[in-house]
Amino acid sequence: MFDSIRISPSILSADFMNLEDDVHEIEKAGADWVHVDVMDGHFVPNLTMGVPFVKQLKTVTSLPLDVHLMIDNPLHELPWFIDCLPSLITVHLETLDDTECHTVVEMLHEKGIKAGIALKPDTSLDRLDPTLGIWDMVLIMSVYPGFSGQSYISRSTERVADLSKRCRIRGLHPLIQVDGGISGQTAGLVCAGGADTLVAGSAIFGASDRAHAIDSIRAAGTVAQKGGSLV
Ligand code: DX5
Ligand code: ZN
Repeated sequence: MFDSIRISPSILSADFMNLEDDVHEIEKAGADWVHVDVMDGHFVPNLTMGVPFVKQLKTVTSLPLDVHLMIDNPLHELPWFIDCLPSLITVHLETLDDTECHTVVEMLHEKGIKAGIALKPDTSLDRLDPTLGIWDMVLIMSVYPGFSGQSYISRSTERVADLSKRCRIRGLHPLIQVDGGISGQTAGLVCAGGADTLVAGSAIFGASDRAHAIDSIRAAGTVAQKGGSLV
């Protein structure tokens, strides 16, 4: 049995001056979620959107909002983001100890929001072992967080496979998301290793035919998930 591949376009690569149109376009193009990259200029060297943005975004789309918090103090900011009632909020493992991880999950689940945990490319998966069982989703960053349009880091392929193995051994089934440099060329690499949720920014919003871009990523992921290859 395989889970179908979810595609979560990152609106960091959208046209902010025409954001509503861009969001409606990816809705029609078959996006499953909308990925929202919140950056604080400290945890990552970039500053993007915040709570008012997420609130307004929710009024223009019925797609689930997948909020990726790249911020230093997630516990401090979390109540405001929870108030926006997105479907899922992902925090970074580098910003929390294990007790705080449990607190985050409790706060999110209390409001019916799914809880995700993200790991930067250099963060050991061992660091996730103690809390692996509490998360609804694990996000393997396949670029250093901060900017869209970067190249996929090839060792992410092994990290995804390693994470899947750890989950399998322990009978755990979190969603496995990958974010950074995902396109029709790289989707297969991570889905072969067990990823089922793909974030893509420039590969979707930079394409002239966004529906085709989403279809290509999903097709490459689906074929690889079933043990085949498109190339
Ligand atoms: C990077 C962000 C990503 C980024 C993805 O810090 O978390 O979501 O927008 O963009 P692409 O797909 O262009 O690498
Ligand atoms: Zn992201």
